[in-house]
Amino acid sequence: MTRRAVVIGAGHYLPERIVENAEFEATLDTSDEWIRSRSGIERRHFAAEDETTSQMATRAAEAALKSAGRSASEVDAIILATSTADLTFPSAATMVQSQLGMTNGFAFDVQAVCAGFVYALSNANALIASGQADRVLVIGAETFSRIMDWTDRSTCVLFGDGAGALLLEAQDGAGTADDRGILATDLNSDGRYKDLLYVDGGVSTQSTGHLRMQGNQVFRHAVEKLAATAHTALARAGASAEDVDWIVPHQANIRIIQGTAKKMGLSMDKVVVTVQDHGNTSAASIPLALSVGVERGQIKPGNLIVTEAIGGGLAWGAVVLRW
Ligand code: ACO
Repeated sequence: MTRRAVVIGAGHYLPERIVENAEFEATLDTSDEWIRSRSGIERRHFAAEDETTSQMATRAAEAALKSAGRSASEVDAIILATSTADLTFPSAATMVQSQLGMTNGFAFDVQAVCAGFVYALSNANALIASGQADRVLVIGAETFSRIMDWTDRSTCVLFGDGAGALLLEAQDGAGTADDRGILATDLNSDGRYKDLLYVDGGVSTQSTGHLRMQGNQVFRHAVEKLAATAHTALARAGASAEDVDWIVPHQANIRIIQGTAKKMGLSMDKVVVTVQDHGNTSAASIPLALSVGVERGQIKPGNLIVTEAIGGGLAWGAVVLRW
């Protein structure tokens, strides 16, 4: 018998305000056509002025708990992937814990930018596999609209806000690739690439800062590293690309998503795509896409899923799981 971390619930939350590409034409030298053709993005959601990352995370967590038919008191741990926590401390995860009315268990944030959800899933899997937790809420939530430089057309049109969550539960499996749950993970980072994607502020530099990105350089790393990490995780799971039902990639750019699928030898019919409606929501993009994929009827129990993501660090990784 092998202890597996099985997804038993999924949910998401998107802020009410939807911003179409055309809105940027009023203040920036840009166009709907440029944004669509270079990134695949058509619109994104932005949080209200008084809406925070922990509040959005809580809404997504509540939806995941509801879909699993579980209550917050049955959860042992919360892992929240975010680079845009409400406060410097405490963690946004502990705020979610209190907003859910939980007085048991433990909660912490994981910061690996756009790869954050893959890192969080991997941590949750380790907690469950080692017997430290039976039920873990894994959330990705971001308010990237707070760190945009609204005068920089090369970044501010690409990002959005939102949250997604999964509830994982320990279940026994046979130890084969047919088991439900997380089958394998692969995590990587290389800090030499800091200057390609970073925020030029932080606590020890006494500012909030804005996101800075050399988009075309990040692009160059993305397809190769994403296909490689997906391949590694699949091999660890004892599966191959032909076994995959769905790729659920980090939603940064449709061209990266298409390039990675092609490199993996898979058609776009096997990819869950939400980038057109959400933009890049960093650590929230994968759980958002998973939850939307279930809602659309794409993802079904028993499906083999590969998630992969790359972001600031650079940090990248993949998780293979059977839904
Ligand atoms: N509207 C019009 N023109 C623009 C815009 C805009 N919004 N933004 C940039 N341009 C211009 C540039 O100024 C440049 O003009 P120039 O040739 O006169 O200098 C031209 O368009 C081409 O710019 P590139 O940056 O080379 O365009 P590219 O085709 O690479 O697309 C993009 C840019 C969409 C950013 C792409 O490189 C990309 O998606 N990169 C990866 C982003 C990513 O995956 N990030 C990782 C996750 S994010 C995270 O971790 C937080």
